[in-house]
Amino acid sequence: MNKEQITEKLQKYDQMQLLRFFDELPEEEQQGLLGEIARIDFDMIDIHHKSESAGAITPLGAMTLDEIAAKKEELTNAGLQAIKECKAAAVLLAGGQGTRLGLDGPKGTLNVGETRELYIFQCLVETLLKVKEAAGAWVPLLVMTSDKNDEATRAFFEEHNYFGYNKDYVFFFVQEMAPSTDFDGKVYLEEKNHISLSPNGNGGWFISLKKAGLLEKIKAMGVEWLNVFAVDNVLQKMVDPAFLGATILSGQPIGAKVVRKNAPDEKVGVMCLRDGHPSIVEYYELTDEMMTEKNESGELAYNFGVILNYLFRVKELEETADKNLPLHIVSKKIPHIDEAGNHIKPEEPNGYKFETLVLDMIQMMDGCLVFEVDRSKEFAPIKNMHGVDSLDSAREMLKANGVEL
Ligand code: UTP
Repeated sequence: MNKEQITEKLQKYDQMQLLRFFDELPEEEQQGLLGEIARIDFDMIDIHHKSESAGAITPLGAMTLDEIAAKKEELTNAGLQAIKECKAAAVLLAGGQGTRLGLDGPKGTLNVGETRELYIFQCLVETLLKVKEAAGAWVPLLVMTSDKNDEATRAFFEEHNYFGYNKDYVFFFVQEMAPSTDFDGKVYLEEKNHISLSPNGNGGWFISLKKAGLLEKIKAMGVEWLNVFAVDNVLQKMVDPAFLGATILSGQPIGAKVVRKNAPDEKVGVMCLRDGHPSIVEYYELTDEMMTEKNESGELAYNFGVILNYLFRVKELEETADKNLPLHIVSKKIPHIDEAGNHIKPEEPNGYKFETLVLDMIQMMDGCLVFEVDRSKEFAPIKNMHGVDSLDSAREMLKANGVEL
């Protein structure tokens, strides 16, 4: 697209601010900027877009800790067998920017140690190493990064010798980006010649993995299940044999790890059925009545919060890959340049990012095994430095689990 065509496109969407510094740029940078603008789909970043999930919500029960304990051996053996046959791979979602944490580098490079170095990436890899030891086979580890942190993430793994993992089984892939806007929907400039782009949420992981050529590679290795998990839960147990075994034996296309809620009004997304499909109901969607509703065993009907640890069967992922996921509009702190060309690093949210989310993929499936885990042993997310879900709280939980910091 030439400058006239770009101008026409920008006028149509009222985004002419993107050419504010155009005339002062060298020719090469002008072409680069026009290319970036040509690739933006402005219809995708409509701030008035509504993505609320519709559908009748009903409770969905879980395989509880007691039920799991009673079948532990059978489930674990089934999982270990699948791991031995290389039927499962781990997908580490590490493309986020961790804006709440405010770290400069990738979130996984955060040192949670106190008297020694213990990085988030290291905690996760060491957990996966235990699975490898139990099964006697390497589990492929796919790491999703973004343009913003890909180089730093790869370098960190390299520098730390993959934390003892076999690098032949570690694959990196880069997720897509989406433009960020101010609260009026105007796309920000990050530099005079670059629009502000940020990772487009964790929902694009399968498409990005496929685009990177990794789907064919892992299928050739025998992989039938992908265990997607968040980078920031330092107690995360990925490719957990019992969970994998239980999901395979259940015949369901997905499995979701959940924890029992702390209180009926805890602010977590909870597993449910939506028009008969597995789904996640956000805490603000639950009415007071639903929040306190009991099932026939006298327990809360909506009691199982998700912890971003899902197993997906590859077959169904491939079948649903072409379906569009709903777009979520999230307020975030967005560094940018102002009208005078000064770099601004905001202290408070100043605009929107546009994201698709992995949890929306669940509703595309016909069924789900909901698998309860003990939150004191498996859920220590680090979203902030201090307070709730923080480095401080995660350190306490690691210590309570016997990890020396
Ligand atoms: P969060 O929703 O907590 O986002 O990510 P975040 O970017 O880490 O942190 P904030 O909200 O900016 O403070 C949950 C998981 O999804 C991954 C994150 O890396 C984390 O593992 N994620 C998030 C991606 O891989 N890509 C994204 O675009 C967003």
